[in-house]
Amino acid sequence: MNIDQLDQEVKSWFPEIKDLIQENTNYKTKEKRDFRDLATEIDIAVQELIEDHIKQLPGKQVIIGEETYGQTEVDPEASHLWIVDPIDGTANFVKQKENYATMITYFSHGQAKLAYIYDVFRDELYSASLGGGVYCNGMRLDPIPDLNLRESLIGISPQHNIKRDYFYYIAENAFDIRNYGCSSLDGISVIKGQYGAFVNPGGGPWDYAPFILMAQEMGLHFSNFSNQMPDYTKPSNFIIASPACFSELESHIKSYTDTGNYSI
Ligand code: IPD
Ligand code: CA
Ligand code: CA
Ligand code: CA
Repeated sequence: MNIDQLDQEVKSWFPEIKDLIQENTNYKTKEKRDFRDLATEIDIAVQELIEDHIKQLPGKQVIIGEETYGQTEVDPEASHLWIVDPIDGTANFVKQKENYATMITYFSHGQAKLAYIYDVFRDELYSASLGGGVYCNGMRLDPIPDLNLRESLIGISPQHNIKRDYFYYIAENAFDIRNYGCSSLDGISVIKGQYGAFVNPGGGPWDYAPFILMAQEMGLHFSNFSNQMPDYTKPSNFIIASPACFSELESHIKSYTDTGNYSI
């Protein structure tokens, strides 16, 4: 199967994902790390659905999925590596019934080749392929201006390990602050040129994997807070930003929080 055929195959999974998520309104919810960290039966069912599709593909398929994460070491150079967040923004899914998305990224031999963010409520599929640009429902996204901090909305994921000084620095110097409470939609806002940056002090691989490819395709900056590419098989803090915003934020985010703070 070549990469275009694989792209078509993955795109064919999303109608089924949408039905599974939207047709099941009676589901149980459990707490994971604490009362703010939720997983519903739908998160688990979507994870299983995507994994079932992946396992039918030819060759050895390696999967890192939020709801099946086993903390085992995974080779970032694997021939076929998939990173899956079945529902990103589970708290929104439960409490708002919108502003959540499904994320799937495909890596081969250390290179992100395909990435998908599906905004289920709005029925918008953002997709990217290496060298092919980023699309929303089949329409290519336009290049975006290199916005600076003063003219930009900045997305911040206000997790509990946030350093106050950093929050205030951005609040005082940016145009304003925004937060969907959903890494995928906050990150997509940078891809679309609606935010100048999105900073997240700690996420699993599934919270940032698509942005490695999408940022590259849009000429945007993506890194951890130390301006390095994270090992995408591991949790990390991350920033996706216009080059101008990153250059203004770089020295501040270095002290923001440690990469190792996030536990799953
Ligand atoms: C979370 C959301 C949240 C972000 C966290 C993520 P989940 O994902 O994207 O906005 O702040 O870093 O873990 O748990 O709802 O898939
Ligand atoms: Ca979660
Ligand atoms: Ca999730
Ligand atoms: Ca997530």
